[in-house]
Amino acid sequence: MKISDAVKYIGVDDKNIDLFESQYVVPEGVSYNSYLILDEKVALMDTVDSRKTAEWEQNLMEALESRKVDYLVVQHLEPDHAGSIQRAMELFPEMTLVGNAKTFNMFPQFFDIDLTDRTLTVQEGDSLSLGSHTLNFYMAPMVHWPEVMVTYESSEKILFSADGFGKFGALDYDDPEGWACEARRYYFNIVGKYGAPVQALLKKAAGLDIQKICPLHGPVLDENLEYYINTYNTWSSYQPEDKGVLVAYASIHGNTGKAAERFAEMLRAKGVEKVVVSDLAREDMAEVIEDAFRYDRMVLASASYDGGVFPCMQDFLHHLQSKAYQNRTVGIIENGSWGPTAGRSMKGILETMKNVTIVDPMVTIRSTMKESDVSAFEALADAIAKA
Ligand code: FEO
Repeated sequence: MKISDAVKYIGVDDKNIDLFESQYVVPEGVSYNSYLILDEKVALMDTVDSRKTAEWEQNLMEALESRKVDYLVVQHLEPDHAGSIQRAMELFPEMTLVGNAKTFNMFPQFFDIDLTDRTLTVQEGDSLSLGSHTLNFYMAPMVHWPEVMVTYESSEKILFSADGFGKFGALDYDDPEGWACEARRYYFNIVGKYGAPVQALLKKAAGLDIQKICPLHGPVLDENLEYYINTYNTWSSYQPEDKGVLVAYASIHGNTGKAAERFAEMLRAKGVEKVVVSDLAREDMAEVIEDAFRYDRMVLASASYDGGVFPCMQDFLHHLQSKAYQNRTVGIIENGSWGPTAGRSMKGILETMKNVTIVDPMVTIRSTMKESDVSAFEALADAIAKA
């Protein structure tokens, strides 16, 4: 993939990783992006996961055409990007590592490499000339990790955005769902907790004339950038992207699931724009989390279990809590064959979240949904439809 005459893509696809970060399924793989800028000086923008060092090295050597790398810009020290730094340092003993104070504080935690005379420490707003290209550095702490920085190359107006604007999916996979679906799953599960730092970075980016965004995962973005930036603004400010309801259920023997499906039908009958039903025991949790943030309303339906709530619902709510779920309207349906406890447990977790409105009534069923439960379901469906 060619970014421009001087800027080359040298990243790799990883299509056989079982779980990204040991937690996210990536059925279409993931890319570890790395870029090379060829000017009077040659700069390498990040490396790749050690799983793919050999393939990356081959891409690097081909793109270099016998030249040497002068600078390696380390925007992010997480192993999916820093995993080949050691190899780069072996290949180019004269190369200088460019990072910020936090990068080099953290560096010895991952690497046993002597950095004496091999580093250039940059701060907010510093620049580095490569000849006709100039790298301008902006700190982006907690746009995933504390040492993250992004780089704006001012001659070609390229923002190297680190994890920002990243997406799951290998680059050789033409995603029929476009950018947003897997970018959203990536964003909320990986960066979701850090909305305020992303907002701070977007404010810095607003002052730059950006023509291309080169992230560390997923495709290079080079048109309609306003769409991507506006979408990131929505996501990072915890505002819903679409009107709709996620109905997420945790069912032991299927009865709570049936009740959830029937409730979803009631919502549809009342004209709710979009209703998505998810089985928390079986579906990809990261996908359900994505939908929780996507829509403005959510209804939780769960069996009671061990004096609390069924474990996959508890797990889901803890994920939402840690990703700073907020600003949404939520309804609750509980099931209990004796002494229902799920509703109280779910409510207790939801009440720790910022600006989450729990609508009345909370609905209780006993083992299975009966016709006598319909009026309570209708009342909750009305309240959710009108919220
Ligand atoms: Fe893609 Fe935070 O590493």
